[in-house]
Amino acid sequence: MSQKKRIAIIPGDGIGKEVIPQAVNVITASGAGVEMTRFDWGADRYLADGVTVPPDGFAMLEREFDAILVGAFGDPRVKTNIHAKEILLGMRFQMDLYANVRPVKLLDAALCPLKGIEPKDVDFVVIRENTEGVYGDLGGVFRKGTPDEIAIQEDINTRKGVERIIRYAFEFCERHAKQDGSPRQRVLMCDKSNAMTHAGGLWQRVFKEVSGEYPQIKPEHMYVDALCMQMVRDPRQFDVVVTNNMFGDIITDLAASLQGGLGMAASGNIHPGKTSMFEPVHGSAPPIAGKNIANPFGAILTAAMMLAHLGLTAEAEKIDAAVLEAIRQQKTTQDVGGQLGTREAGEWVARRVN
Ligand code: NAD
Ligand code: IPM
Ligand code: MN
Repeated sequence: MSQKKRIAIIPGDGIGKEVIPQAVNVITASGAGVEMTRFDWGADRYLADGVTVPPDGFAMLEREFDAILVGAFGDPRVKTNIHAKEILLGMRFQMDLYANVRPVKLLDAALCPLKGIEPKDVDFVVIRENTEGVYGDLGGVFRKGTPDEIAIQEDINTRKGVERIIRYAFEFCERHAKQDGSPRQRVLMCDKSNAMTHAGGLWQRVFKEVSGEYPQIKPEHMYVDALCMQMVRDPRQFDVVVTNNMFGDIITDLAASLQGGLGMAASGNIHPGKTSMFEPVHGSAPPIAGKNIANPFGAILTAAMMLAHLGLTAEAEKIDAAVLEAIRQQKTTQDVGGQLGTREAGEWVARRVN
């Protein structure tokens, strides 16, 4: 018997506390050989005792867990958002989870706001650099509060960081098929090298070099502004997209809309061979929190992605299939056309995988 996989569960704030319990129930119902441990990191804990990440927190996660399932962080009571920065960006940066893998898959034509677009037309993956860019928070403010105030936010791009994310995208392309079983064949780098010439120049050079090692994969390029337009005009053209931290953040909210909205989008924060972290793309959605209306499917699909990453592919496939069936039968929350609550939609999927 293989050992049970150990999973840390961090629901976080807002709707994270509603959707993650549903994902946990679905994992349990799938029969996956896992052991789950819940952590209370988030706004409530921070407001109670001032702790965002307990001492040794990240090292503990790496040592004691095979994967982490996270909800979302962000609470109107914490104006600085410091806990989100320390917990969420802390995990990404300090655990060096450099590849943010965000699949964009349409499950049913009814979920896509574009005319005539079917599931086979929206099946691409955004590989977002997750440890550099403007997220490093380097910079500063000078002459604060005066008419001469200067704010500087640096954009960090290292040779090592750019190379490993581009390589990850090519490896991903080589190893992952599309939903219909056909191979992935193209990697598109998205940047703004026409304006951001220093960073863009590095990305361009590295992309050219690395793509040369994968002659069977077609390298493509698009400026991020044009990409936004093309994603809405014709999403069929995308296969694997690689980009920096901030562009990756922005274009995956746009891409989520092609799938039925933020409530449907899953993601993984991955460092191959290390404890990786999985979270839905959406945030804590304070206005809808606590009302049993948030869509749990993004979190549930994220759980499936995590199980697949851990090698529990049969369970992952069962969960994916159950969500697909829920969509087809409209056993969903209102944002994707159904009439169920968060709990009821989650329970429907859990019964289906049982
Ligand atoms: P958000 O993703 O929370 O919400 C954006 C919109 O999508 C809202 O209209 C919301 O109601 C809707 N939505 C999101 N998830 C949904 C779901 N599961 N079902 C139905 N509707 C859903 O983004 P925001 O409003 O910009 O941010 C709210 C807070 O969350 C902020 O504090 C932000 O910093 C934080 N945030 C955290 C994460 C994360 O922890 N990974 C990601 C994004 C935003
Ligand atoms: C995301 C979120 C985060 C990000 C925020 C909460 C810092 O939007 O995970 O997409 O920008 O990475
Ligand atoms: Mn985001």
